[in-house]
Amino acid sequence: MNTKFEGKFAGKVALITGGGSGIGQSTSLKLAEEGAHVLIIDLDLKAAKATQDLIEKSGGKASVYQCDISNSSQVKEVVAGILVDNDIDILVNNAGIAHVGNLENTSEDDLDRLYNVNVKGTYNFMSAVIGSMKKKQSGVIINLASVASSVGIEDRFAYSMSKGAVLTMTYSVAKDYINDGIRCNCIAPGRVHTPFVDNFLEKNYPDNKEEMFEKLSKSQPIGRMGKVEEIAGLIVYLCSDEAAFITGSNFPIDGGFVTLNN
Ligand SMILES: NC(=O)c1ccc[n+]([C@@H]2O[C@H](COP(=O)([O-])OP(=O)(O)OC[C@H]3O[C@@H](n4cnc5c(N)ncnc54)[C@H](O)[C@@H]3O)[C@@H](O)[C@H]2O)c1
Repeated sequence: MNTKFEGKFAGKVALITGGGSGIGQSTSLKLAEEGAHVLIIDLDLKAAKATQDLIEKSGGKASVYQCDISNSSQVKEVVAGILVDNDIDILVNNAGIAHVGNLENTSEDDLDRLYNVNVKGTYNFMSAVIGSMKKKQSGVIINLASVASSVGIEDRFAYSMSKGAVLTMTYSVAKDYINDGIRCNCIAPGRVHTPFVDNFLEKNYPDNKEEMFEKLSKSQPIGRMGKVEEIAGLIVYLCSDEAAFITGSNFPIDGGFVTLNN
């Protein structure tokens, strides 16, 4: 039972993909703290349940669903099940995967994998919820883009392709549903210290993790990586009614990465 009825998301249902880790976990906790019933979607059920436990221990409300966001029939089934009893007021398309490689060392399989999770996963959830949001004439969608959506980043060919598409899908959806009371925005984080970064260093730089961590930190002019709570704070603001005038926008949150790296 959610005891925080007075929060700014009281009575709202927020679905978040990848809520078992990193930015998704922090966002789930903040949304629940403000009274939302948080629906956590993750491939990793154990991780999703750990987030649910944290929410419930602090008096919030959460449900978990194991689902591969790249699998459209799974997504349709999960969302249809949710919509039997709940409206989905807020959708945060957060789950995503990384890949390191330039054009020559990105295989067709790599490209398809990044497309399937980061692009199609975002499409799958937006298309599964849009009908119900239209019917209600209200809804908020936040997509996780990246600094790689708009500037060239070394060795991120497939990742950049996928995050560029997240940015432009956001603009497209914001435009098409502006008269249906639906707001759609994305955020573009620079490097944020999450398991996403740790796994990436472990996989790609097992012998010089510390050195690479330092290098990645310094690539933000502000001199460090972002914290998950900082990213979650922006997402939660954009989900709230305080951001009612904001749609079709992309918000860099990157320690100056895009505009001050010169
Ligand atoms: N961490 C960064 O530096 C950074 C920077 C810019 C953008 N982003 C974006 O932010 C988002 C979250 O990043 P993070 O660092 O918190 O990631 P993370 O790796 O810590 O967590 C991602 C979560 O998504 C889940 N997931 C992965 N593939 C899935 C699938 N197919 N179906 C369902 N769940 C799946 C994972 O199990 C995990 O719980 C991603 O979209 C990422 O591209 C991250």
